[in-house]
Amino acid sequence: MNDPVAPAETLRAALAGLLDGLPPRQAAAAVDRLIANYRGATPTHAPILRDRADVAAYAAYRMPATFEAVRAALDAFAEATPDWTPSGHIDVGGGTGAATWAVSATWSGPRDVTVLDWAEPALALGREIAAANPALRQVTWQRSRIGSALSIESTDLVTISYVLNELDEGDRVTLIDTAASAAQAVVIVEPGTPDGYTRIIEARERLIAAGFRIAAPCPHSAACPITPGTDWCHFSTRVSRSSLHRQVKGGSLAYEDEKFAYVAAARFPVTPAPARVVRKPQIRKGQVLLDLCETHPALNRTTVTKRHGDLYKAARDADWGDAWPPVDD
Ligand SMILES: C[S@@+](CC[C@H](N)C(=O)[O-])C[C@H]1O[C@@H](n2cnc3c(N)ncnc32)[C@H](O)[C@@H]1O
Repeated sequence: MNDPVAPAETLRAALAGLLDGLPPRQAAAAVDRLIANYRGATPTHAPILRDRADVAAYAAYRMPATFEAVRAALDAFAEATPDWTPSGHIDVGGGTGAATWAVSATWSGPRDVTVLDWAEPALALGREIAAANPALRQVTWQRSRIGSALSIESTDLVTISYVLNELDEGDRVTLIDTAASAAQAVVIVEPGTPDGYTRIIEARERLIAAGFRIAAPCPHSAACPITPGTDWCHFSTRVSRSSLHRQVKGGSLAYEDEKFAYVAAARFPVTPAPARVVRKPQIRKGQVLLDLCETHPALNRTTVTKRHGDLYKAARDADWGDAWPPVDD
């Protein structure tokens, strides 16, 4: 696997300067419009990213976070498929290409990469940013609308990152089914909200019905043990903010926590984790409380104490979203 730090830094450097040349008032207006679109009922009939200002705002405001969320999902997927490397990748609704950065950060080596999106300004900016990453210089940026006429060429990996939210139910079904018939592996990431989780669970069921096995986050391909409406499965990843990011988002924190929900599935045999930590571990004196999703499938709280020796040390290091027990590198 690649150095996990370098691509994030290359991306940050490529994003810096993006708003240069844009009048600050125009950039601020574009960010406000984005926030309004994503907060309310997200429009599904026409692109949200309409021009360069929209796309620059999106890239500066959201891309570092969507990149980290996809990377976390891909890391979990790669742990469950240690002998597999995709030789082709299609990112549907790829926008400025956050998932292509995450895939190239997860698996080195050459591969055919295509980004499909209906927003030409997003594809144009994505191509511009990708020039900074040698692994992404050959990417094909292609205009394509997700709808009944969607077609996806056969490939190893399809990613669908923060897209389902912008589609009506019919297009979501079309997209998942088309991805399932095109790819050996499908990784879908959504915001870590109750609605995001619901869309992930619906997609998960369709992938299983299409013959896929779940590699992550679930330790099994049976029904999710969460009773609908009572809770939602989601994870969190830390995103460092550049000064540009701070300027666009406001506030002075050096980082933010991006909450996301995901499913990663494959047509080939996978080795899911025996269990996964599904909440932030609680560290108490001499013990760690871990909320786990296990293979039964069931949600269980396990207490690991000092008496467990090495396992206790591992529990103290365990993070929300990790496989349990930890996977040896
Ligand atoms: C929130 S952005 C996510 C972009 C990127 N995948 C990421 O993770 O940063 C949603 C993307 O989906 C695209 N999109 C939404 N509806 C679409 C449709 N019907 N056909 C094609 N692309 C669509 C948008 O243009 C936008 O680039």
